[in-house]
Amino acid sequence: MGRVFSPETLMAISAADFAYIQKLLLERSAIVLAGGKEYLAESRLGPVARDEGFGSIDRLVAHLRPLAFNGLHQKVVEALTTNETSFFRDVVPFKALKHVIPLVQAKRADRCLTVWSAACSSGQEPYSIVITLREEFAELIAPRLRILATDLSTEMVGRAQKATYTQIEVGRGLAPPLLAKYFERQGNGWQVKEALRRQIEFRAMNLIEPWPSLPQFDIVFLRNVLIYFDLSTKKEVFAKLRSVLAPHGVVFLGSSETTHNVDDAFERVEFEKATCYRLRGRG
Ligand SMILES: C[S@@+](CC[C@H](N)C(=O)[O-])C[C@H]1O[C@@H](n2cnc3c(N)ncnc32)[C@H](O)[C@@H]1O
Repeated sequence: MGRVFSPETLMAISAADFAYIQKLLLERSAIVLAGGKEYLAESRLGPVARDEGFGSIDRLVAHLRPLAFNGLHQKVVEALTTNETSFFRDVVPFKALKHVIPLVQAKRADRCLTVWSAACSSGQEPYSIVITLREEFAELIAPRLRILATDLSTEMVGRAQKATYTQIEVGRGLAPPLLAKYFERQGNGWQVKEALRRQIEFRAMNLIEPWPSLPQFDIVFLRNVLIYFDLSTKKEVFAKLRSVLAPHGVVFLGSSETTHNVDDAFERVEFEKATCYRLRGRG
């Protein structure tokens, strides 16, 4: 059984345990953990094994194997998600919002706006959306504005709700005047002001499980999550997305993601150098 030792954790994963973890992750999150990523499993699961008192990944997996899916399985799945994010990531989608919002609002008699950040990680994406709205469309606040932010990881949803960020995190993408205006000091870090936090509804939600009842969205950020899924899962997610997207709705994907050759119901449109997608023939 080929064993590789990770210098950071000194915990190894056997080939059989890696196969178990690959299957668990695929079934519960649709994330494809390719062969060769044993180092990732080791570095992420070592701390879980230690914190949960198992002392080794072998013993953690041996404990999980006979049991029905429970909180510890969920913890293992969450440990293997990649939560990389930053404020105003890629910049252009947020610049494009200034142009997209008047267009989608014009299609709504009530002039309300419903936005979804569908894999929000630790919250930088939905807070970047709400800051853009505050800056550009100050009159657009609840109840005329509804922003939903969801993620598979309950830990990330908790972090997003708490909205506290380190100096390094706010240094990634957030202009100093926006930091001064929308955040307040908290210890060595920063917290998003309450008035902004109030605008966002956070929920844990797994994109590959049946979706709960959702409103019709005018704008969806589904960014940097589809890259972890195989083609059939991407197709399923787009099919479900079509059912919650307003006819005039606009979807932003990550810079390496596309609907092309995945779901032809969508067409590509450009706003201010940002590529986004909407239902074909509906714009
Ligand atoms: C790389 S982050 C992207 C965060 C943000 N959208 C951005 O672009 O900066 C990917 C997020 O997708 C979440 N995720 C992975 N699989 C998921 C699934 N099946 N359902 C919902 N969220 C999922 C992860 O927990 C992680 O927080």
